Amino acid sequence: MEKRRFYENKLRQVALTFGFREVETPIFEDAELFILRSGPNVLKELYAFKDKGDRDIALRPEMTAPAIRMFVNNMSNDPKPIKIFYFGQCFRYERPQSGRYREFFQFGAELIGSATPETDAEVIAMAASMIKAFGLKEYRVRIGHIGVLRQRIADAGVPADRAAEVLQKLDKKLYDEARPLMEDMGVSSADIDGIFDLTETVGGPEVLSKVPGDVGDYLRKVVSFLEAMGVETPEIDLGVVRGLDYYTGMVFEAEAPALGAEKQICGGGSYTLSELFGGEKVFSTGFAVGFDRILLAAEKEGQAYEPRGIDAYVLPVSDDMRLKAAEVVAMLRHEGISSDVDIMGRKMGKALKYASAVRARFAVIVGSKEMEEGAVTLRDMSSGEQRTVPVESLPAEIKKTQ
Ligand code: HAM
Repeated sequence: MEKRRFYENKLRQVALTFGFREVETPIFEDAELFILRSGPNVLKELYAFKDKGDRDIALRPEMTAPAIRMFVNNMSNDPKPIKIFYFGQCFRYERPQSGRYREFFQFGAELIGSATPETDAEVIAMAASMIKAFGLKEYRVRIGHIGVLRQRIADAGVPADRAAEVLQKLDKKLYDEARPLMEDMGVSSADIDGIFDLTETVGGPEVLSKVPGDVGDYLRKVVSFLEAMGVETPEIDLGVVRGLDYYTGMVFEAEAPALGAEKQICGGGSYTLSELFGGEKVFSTGFAVGFDRILLAAEKEGQAYEPRGIDAYVLPVSDDMRLKAAEVVAMLRHEGISSDVDIMGRKMGKALKYASAVRARFAVIVGSKEMEEGAVTLRDMSSGEQRTVPVESLPAEIKKTQ
């Protein structure tokens, strides 16, 4: 938990430096919130049930829909853009495997009320900073545009209400299944080949010349803003489809190869959802980092986390010093120094062993002789070095090395 909090706080720090503010939404919501737009893919993965009032309830599978519901209910009159972030657990009824759990944590953000290349760049830059904050050495960020693919399959004759089925196959690169599916819908084989070609359009910014319409220009601007902010240029990949159904424009994903099959550590893009929840149509861009997965990726890359331990362990030399020890530990805590005291009447040797087990940086030894002069013995637990320190300068001595 200490390790998780350490990384969680790093991500929170990144979000705060990007000017986002934290929100929290309920863990369960009306199931309808997720069914309205997220498509059949999410529906079969929902933990959904009826409550005692016969209401259809679902545990949140993600936090974008709840965040937008919250925006519509509570924040729609706030000045835009609205920049919010969240951290919490999500639930998906899927087959558990390494890096894929039924309960997992997402750290995500939504930038609501703006639809410019700067908006998208801002969100991608923050995602990239979060991955950096984890210290990952190997990862790839790919950006695409779902609008191009949606348009292409619509032009080829895929009916609007069946687009999600096709996109789902293309997302997983299941071309053998996508072809007969589209053939059934009357799509010509030349068009099917063209669609497959589009999803295989991958490379540096130069491939943007192959992107039809204004989208090429748009993505070029996103890339320029990223460059201006010093973010490494992501790969362009028009095959980024995303599993969720609400995206309309730029989409992006990041993966960590160290993870093997479940390597996607982050995903996002621009979308509109607010109009489905009774609000005005508002464009937003957001993403979520799979917290458990990115932790796993850092571990697989060999990153070790050093538990912090406590600053001071106070131990009385004899029973008549116990009350004095209690006074000293209370004083240290008052000064904001994380400290502990022997409460088990241990002898010095054993107490020191315990102090190293709880990773105390210092032992504060309270003995009657030193106490007569208002002093204690301060022992540096890593070097073993000991010196006499007046009680009143103890906090400063310990803080000096923090
Ligand atoms: P998503 O790609 O479904 O997007 O999930 C985001 C991240 O959550 C994934 O990249 C992955 O790392 C992690 N994740 C997903 N499912 C699991 C699982 N079963 N176990 C462990 N980790 C998992 C969204 O949820 C969107 N709401 C992101 C977004 C925000 N788009 C716009 N705003």
